[in-house]
Amino acid sequence: MASPAPSTPGQARPAAPRFSATPTASAPIRSSPTPSSGAAPGPFATLCETCHPQGGTAPGTGPSLRGVARRHSPGFIRAQILNGRGDMPGFRDRLKGEELERLLAYLQTLEGEPPFNRSPPPVDPEAATRGQELFRQRCESCHLEGGRWPGSGLGFEPPAPVLIDELRRHTPAFIARQIREGGGQMPAVGADLTDAQVADLIAYLSALALEDQGD
Ligand code: HEC
Ligand code: HEC
Repeated sequence: MASPAPSTPGQARPAAPRFSATPTASAPIRSSPTPSSGAAPGPFATLCETCHPQGGTAPGTGPSLRGVARRHSPGFIRAQILNGRGDMPGFRDRLKGEELERLLAYLQTLEGEPPFNRSPPPVDPEAATRGQELFRQRCESCHLEGGRWPGSGLGFEPPAPVLIDELRRHTPAFIARQIREGGGQMPAVGADLTDAQVADLIAYLSALALEDQGD
């Protein structure tokens, strides 16, 4: 599979893209300091800014939300906001009427590649090897090449995300729930896995993130 051509000179990354490579949205814009739309709308500033600073463009307690609409379906983002997950609380009781739609529309404007807010936990190599084998069996049909490539062409929109930096963005608890319960377009593919197997998968994803860091 060919690497998508970066459209911004000087911004090319040699590694696989973090995002699905739609022709209009493949270039990471690391240095642009503000989202294209300017100030964050009311509900973002009041409810989200404390953990997703600078209008969601910078990492804080929560991950930077740059490019989130290219990684995730609206259903996934909607559920994250309403129900919360991992270290983020849900906002079902605090959002009124069209505020959720305004938030979703705003998140669509956050372009670029996110800087990260976490360090991957240390890895037990044997757990990571077991996790890699499980990943091949359970995950690779959608998260291609061991999670290093977006699952484009599988009917998902956006495609199943690249998981290289998953542990630099998300807590293990968030990932464990995604594996067990699914979320958005992903079915509950790991509902029958044991705690130890889920831990092995997370060890594999951690090893991926550490590898990527060493590039
Ligand atoms: C049938 C296809 C499919 C399979 C199999 C699958 N996934 Fe997914 N996965 C997806 C899609 C699509 C998304 C994006 C969901 C959305 O945004 O609606 C996703 C999202 C995720 C996320 C969330 C990414 C983020 O940044 O929040 C994680 C973590 C994940 N998958 C891990 C796994 C693991 C581990 C396995 C194997 C146990 C797996 N997936 C199997 C399709 C799949
Ligand atoms: C108390 C801190 C906190 C607040 C307030 C908060 N978030 Fe979060 N958010 C987080 C954390 C932490 C995560 C990552 C969860 C994890 O990995 O455990 C997250 C994750 C997300 C994600 C998923 C990102 C991805 O790449 O998968 C979205 C979308 C999101 N938040 C949007 C919002 C919006 C919109 C608001 C305001 C309505 C908000 N958040 C308020 C802490 C917060």
